[in-house]
Amino acid sequence: MDIPIKIAGIGFQVPKTVITNDDLTKIIDTSDEWIRTRTGIERRHVLSGNESAVQMGIMAAKKALEKSKIDVEKIDYIIAPASVETHAYPSTACEIQAAIGAVNAACFDITAACSGLIYAMGIGKAFIKSGMAKNILLVATDAVSRCLDWTDRASCVLFGDGAGAMVLTVSDDNQDDILAVSLKAEGQFGDYIKMPISGKNCPLVEPNTIEPMYVKMDGKEVYKYVVTKLPTYIEECVAQSGLQMNEIDYLIPHQANMRIIEALEKRLEFNPEHVISNIQEYANTSAASIPIALTEAIQSGKIKLPATAILTGFGAGMTVGTTVVRLREGIA
Ligand code: ACO
Repeated sequence: MDIPIKIAGIGFQVPKTVITNDDLTKIIDTSDEWIRTRTGIERRHVLSGNESAVQMGIMAAKKALEKSKIDVEKIDYIIAPASVETHAYPSTACEIQAAIGAVNAACFDITAACSGLIYAMGIGKAFIKSGMAKNILLVATDAVSRCLDWTDRASCVLFGDGAGAMVLTVSDDNQDDILAVSLKAEGQFGDYIKMPISGKNCPLVEPNTIEPMYVKMDGKEVYKYVVTKLPTYIEECVAQSGLQMNEIDYLIPHQANMRIIEALEKRLEFNPEHVISNIQEYANTSAASIPIALTEAIQSGKIKLPATAILTGFGAGMTVGTTVVRLREGIA
């Protein structure tokens, strides 16, 4: 028996501290004009002091749970596509579990960079369809600002911090909200974007020091990869969904570069009014960018519900994830 899935709630959280493009001119040789025309970014929100990616994830999770009206103790899994700067374990998902009281959830993180939320939706869909789970909380949260080389103008201007969450459950009205999911990976392009976590060699080996490492990106190669491959991957996913491209109301792409978003819009012949972008305010918040853009556009009325939508992300790996969804009223 096919088990239909409901997207029951979504939410997001960003830090209060805002850094404008002009602010960045105090620390690197750049300009508001260069950043805006090349990327569409005007500002980004960044963590400060003791704020953390986990705290943002907790807030986003609570908002999504509240919208879903699902009791936190009924959550079976927490899956966190997350890159926090401080540690690889305990998992971000476990830390969020403890804070929100999801005592019956199994928890784990996944690494798929900016495609993370879509990868997590694919896993969530499979768990619910197979009967392994009824209620799943997905939390994308990233502290990219703490992993950047703030002297490298080619990368540091592009990113911001944020978290986004989504609750999946068994549909109570037979409508399936996740019509198709398509996940791709091409590890041979792994050098295009890297976010190392620095470690140290055993003090008894030579050399025993390792240079601190930061996010490194070959922006040109990423750009070429995405504009060449992503449209075809999206078309394949739409074909699987049973809908035609012109039946889909909104396109919500990963917020990495306005020029990439506009290239997608043209190639897929989407009405610009129906392509969601908030890159000017938040820059690239990695896996959190799609749920932030989705939630904000629903809350502001830019997305009118009910609706159908394509969510599509790409990121380090290289990874690509696309899903075609139905969005119900009241989810944000
Ligand atoms: N300010 C001013 N000048 C700059 C800056 C800056 N912040 N950064 C680079 N430049 C200079 C370069 O040094 C270069 O100068 P030169 O010609 O004297 O050598 C010039 O600007 C052009 O640099 P390019 O790298 O060629 O600029 P490009 O037009 O390719 O734009 C960008 C760079 C914006 C990074 C673009 O390649 C891009 O957006 N790529 C996609 C990136 C992306 O999508 N990343 C997200 C991937 S997934 C994930 O999120 C992990």
